[in-house]
Amino acid sequence: MQISCIIVGRNPIKNRQISELRNDTATERKLTRRRHAGTPSAAREVLPRPARFGNVPVEAEPKGWDRRQGFQKHYPSVSLPTQIIERVKLGNEEPHEPNRLIWGDNLHIMRQISNNSVDLIYIDPPFFSGRQYNVIWGDNNELRSFDDIWEGGLDGYLIWLNARLYEMKRILKPTGSIYVHCDWHASHYIKVEMDKIFGYENMIDQIVWHYGTPSGGRSSGKKPVKVHDNLLVYAVNYAKHTYNKQFTPYSDKYVKDWFRHTDEDGRMYRTRSRKGVIVRQYLDESPGVPLSNVWSDIMQLYGSAGWFAKMGTDERIGYPTQKPEALVERIIKASSNEGDVVADMFVGGGTFASVA
Ligand SMILES: C[S@@+](CC[C@H](N)C(=O)[O-])C[C@H]1O[C@@H](n2cnc3c(N)ncnc32)[C@H](O)[C@@H]1O
Repeated sequence: MQISCIIVGRNPIKNRQISELRNDTATERKLTRRRHAGTPSAAREVLPRPARFGNVPVEAEPKGWDRRQGFQKHYPSVSLPTQIIERVKLGNEEPHEPNRLIWGDNLHIMRQISNNSVDLIYIDPPFFSGRQYNVIWGDNNELRSFDDIWEGGLDGYLIWLNARLYEMKRILKPTGSIYVHCDWHASHYIKVEMDKIFGYENMIDQIVWHYGTPSGGRSSGKKPVKVHDNLLVYAVNYAKHTYNKQFTPYSDKYVKDWFRHTDEDGRMYRTRSRKGVIVRQYLDESPGVPLSNVWSDIMQLYGSAGWFAKMGTDERIGYPTQKPEALVERIIKASSNEGDVVADMFVGGGTFASVA
């Protein structure tokens, strides 16, 4: 209903179209209900994408897609000899095929990976930040850098990313999912493109990673302090995707407020009524708080060596956009099972590979 209000006010449209819009809103409600009931294919049937809305064409294809040639038009296939840098041993006696670290442009590498072969993809691509990231690397002081500056502007960036997202969708298994790490620079635009590639109904969530505190050093500019990134999470088939519920520890306040009793062995518990019977819920048997889509308990790797020394851990390797291990560990645990194939297509400092 709100949608029709805005359009009627700004750009009067015919009654027929208003009623179509109202139907769309009702349909969307139906879609949401079905989505939660876990029948995404039914949802797709009830929300067909129109080719036009009034005089405005509705783009069904992701930017850069050509009807005849797909993304090959902008990014033709090239045959490259791939270079396997390393076979990583991750607890297995013999390193097996999936444990590969491959050097090259991920588009061309992914085009050589078969359909339906990966369970989980995490990507942390350039964010469209307009910056160049440099790092002086290793004992020989080698300069390594990557550019996040886009000649074609936002559209150029989206076309570049879409060609890769398309391959990711293809190589994911029907039960697979993808996490796209991004921020305010392009997250809303990426969401629209992902809706076209993965399907609106297959969006699992938008996770807000609240990575730090609004300290004075970050507070330049006439705006609130930026303290979060976004993770756009999509399934190949919503409701068929792997998800293992995660929990975070109760806060001290929660424990104090709710687990008020202590038994003869010193175990803290709360009482609950289950079917009219009062039972004890022990703190040491309680899983914690179900994970929400706002993650505030993992700090970014930003701070002085002294601060990290105080925390008793320092996983920084000097890579400028390195992400914390705890962040990717949570993603891997939530969205894959032991023995699954997981992949990071923008390796950077290698956090994901090292945690997996
Ligand atoms: C934001 S960093 C990833 C940081 C990583 N998550 C970490 O924790 O260290 C993005 C990386 O993607 C790489 N990259 C950019 N374009 C690429 C492409 N077409 N194929 C493969 N890697 C690419 C960049 O060189 C950079 O290393």
